[in-house]
Amino acid sequence: MTESLCEPLETEDYVIQSMPDSSPTKWHLAHTSWFFETFVLEPGTPEYRPIDARYRYLFNSYYYTVGPMHVRPERGFISRPTVKEIYAYRRHVDAGMERFLRDADAQTFARLSPVITLGLNHCQQHQELLLTDLKHAFWKNPLQPAYRKLPDAPKSETVPLHWIPFEEGVCAIGHEGDGFAFDNESPRHRVFVAPFKLAHRLVTNDEYLAFVLGGGYTRPELWLSDGWNTRVEENWDAPLYWLKDNAGWKEFTLGGVRPLNGAEPVCHVSYYEADAYARWAGARLPTEAEWEVAAEDAPVSGGFLESRRFCPSAAVEKRALTQLFGEAWQWTQSAYSAYPGYQPLSGALGEYNGKFMSGQMVLRGASCVTPRSHARRSYRNFFPPKMRWQFVGIRLAS
Ligand SMILES: [Fe+2]
Repeated sequence: MTESLCEPLETEDYVIQSMPDSSPTKWHLAHTSWFFETFVLEPGTPEYRPIDARYRYLFNSYYYTVGPMHVRPERGFISRPTVKEIYAYRRHVDAGMERFLRDADAQTFARLSPVITLGLNHCQQHQELLLTDLKHAFWKNPLQPAYRKLPDAPKSETVPLHWIPFEEGVCAIGHEGDGFAFDNESPRHRVFVAPFKLAHRLVTNDEYLAFVLGGGYTRPELWLSDGWNTRVEENWDAPLYWLKDNAGWKEFTLGGVRPLNGAEPVCHVSYYEADAYARWAGARLPTEAEWEVAAEDAPVSGGFLESRRFCPSAAVEKRALTQLFGEAWQWTQSAYSAYPGYQPLSGALGEYNGKFMSGQMVLRGASCVTPRSHARRSYRNFFPPKMRWQFVGIRLAS
């Protein structure tokens, strides 16, 4: 899947890093193989020899217990190894993994198979990041090229917003069962949830445009203090990727620039914008517990990466809870922190999630660039509140 996402690219596209928080495609390709090399092949196969020992430093993302690393904002400076050499590196690690899967003794395999599963989920996370980073890189190019030609959006009209009530109660949230989950989704625990209502669908572009045209970006009373300061500093007056010319509002997509589709969910807003919009609309953002309780009986379905639409689709459902998964991640008002009794993984992989539990907000659901099998009800995504380049939208609560 990761490599198939690179099929529309030219070599030059692989190298661009358009901002400090994003990474070049070639870095994603190398780093996801680095993960298997570092956490499976090195501890599990004594005969494994790296293709280049310096890659340990170059493609380490943030694992200080593994060793020092190249600084993230300078990943775009790495023209060598070449894209061709990085594909050769992937082949080398893949061959090592095939040997491991064939030859590992039962004890070693039992020890490392959870790490392989983690490595595959890690690849899925980077598939999504690869596309969000490419979208930003193409956006920063004044020619605003298309990643690939996208299918025309189905003709759609905005379905009226419907509020779904939920009763109060002591509810359980967190990962349950034998399937894979990241450490931050556990342990499952009880929470008290007061009565609440959840919007049945995501906020649409048309609804958000009313906020923009109604002066939402010029009224500090709607904004959190940090949000207003960020809005001023960053000069925000609409979501990332929105454009306006004489013909009206447009948006940049992975298929290039096209007229804004009013019925589709608004996307690429920061937490601050989502929060200000909710206040303007007389509502608020859900907590992550409310979101998960509401999603308990909902199917994990929607428009995922496999649909290759690369943008969120309009809601068609009129009353039932919809767009929980697939279209766009949803900001919650919950700060990203540890569940009671949380235990990070042991060793270097303890750095995967736990150390990021400050200064970030939880996002729930999944987006149109999330692989289908990566989505689940207990999933806790997290980003700093000013970030806008991920596919993130807004679901209202009250
Ligand atoms: Fe990573």
